[in-house]
Amino acid sequence: METDASVPSGLAAPQRVLLIIAGGIAAYKALELIRRLRERDIAVRCVLTAAGAEFVTPLSVAALSGERVYRDLFSLTEESEMGHIRLSREADLVVVAPATADLMAKLANGHADDLASTALLATDKPVLLAPAMNVEMWRHPATQRNLARLKDDGVRVIGPESGDLACGEVGAGRMAEPHDIAAAVGFLLAGGEPLLAGRHALVTSGPTREAVDPVRFISNRSSGKQGHAIAAALARFGATTTLVAGPTALGDPPGVRTVHVESAQEMAAACEAAMPADIAVCAAAVADWQLRAVAARKIKKRGAAPAFDLVETPDILATVSRPGPRRPRLVVGFAAETGDLIAEATAKRRRKGCDWILANDVAATPIFGADTTTVHLITATGAEAWPRMSKIALAERLARRIAAALAPAAAPSPA
Ligand code: C5P
Repeated sequence: METDASVPSGLAAPQRVLLIIAGGIAAYKALELIRRLRERDIAVRCVLTAAGAEFVTPLSVAALSGERVYRDLFSLTEESEMGHIRLSREADLVVVAPATADLMAKLANGHADDLASTALLATDKPVLLAPAMNVEMWRHPATQRNLARLKDDGVRVIGPESGDLACGEVGAGRMAEPHDIAAAVGFLLAGGEPLLAGRHALVTSGPTREAVDPVRFISNRSSGKQGHAIAAALARFGATTTLVAGPTALGDPPGVRTVHVESAQEMAAACEAAMPADIAVCAAAVADWQLRAVAARKIKKRGAAPAFDLVETPDILATVSRPGPRRPRLVVGFAAETGDLIAEATAKRRRKGCDWILANDVAATPIFGADTTTVHLITATGAEAWPRMSKIALAERLARRIAAALAPAAAPSPA
């Protein structure tokens, strides 16, 4: 099981989530969400709407949650055993996943005509919605109006993400991934104050592609998982977050302004345009070299192999770290090393001028594309070994660390 620094251990009683599963194709992901929450020792009690039960069976929900499933507002047995008021009050957090356009509309307008909407209206606990719907339904002014009203009412929202939708269309509407929802739940249950509210964070992620000619490029194996997770975590902590992302297979993280770029030059320009920032985390695997001149036409495979005239790409981390009025208060870089990890990462911290370096030993374990990672945090005061953890857990731990370093009570120079 993954451990997560954001979830305090040793809590007296297990924390409890009331999970409302509404009707949508994404309801199948709610089963995975139950597992992810149970892994975190969070007790999950589920309400399944009539439409939700068309997509997942009460039996699977009961089996995974280990509790009976609540479905009917006017069931005498359910009301005598557990009224809808108690159902929503006994939870520490109410999660709706998937949150349909219909259920969002009901909650935004105070309707209570079934168990799900009644429990949502009766609760005195925080509510987290994970919307999932067709892209046009999501974009519809009515849904956006309801969303704005719900946010005004203090409802938290995670996602939706962009990508292929079950209806065959492409765009925003995919429910956030269960592990991301579980991480957000962990964060909210752990106190969830918007520790970075009012801060602007800039994150780079993914590889870059350096063109050789119109069809070829130089690149690397970076998946972008770590950088994207960091951007998502900083946004969850309340930072206004700009992610400058090279080409990856990942969707845009929820709540993050994502700028898509290809080359190191474009990434550098997008970072410059996104400044000023309070926090910069350079997690991108920027290509080290670009061609001095990109061939305007496809290089023909005739005769001798071409010799490429390579020049270094702009060093974004070093540029962002340069002293001056626009320098972010905290700049974090990454170092993937195969030699003496600590010594090389410590030297890199000084050379680049950043405040912290997260160093991983890429010789010991595969990092690229993996879901877990092992790092050392190198600061001005030394190196700290972090245990092996998921990239999402690492992102949360880093975001928490950044928030502590920038807190008003913290020392002026982050260490
Ligand atoms: O020099 P090296 O590539 O090992 O440094 C890694 C760190 O520097 C990472 O944080 C990476 O995002 C950043 N970097 C950058 N621009 C470059 C090269 C690396 O921002 N051109």
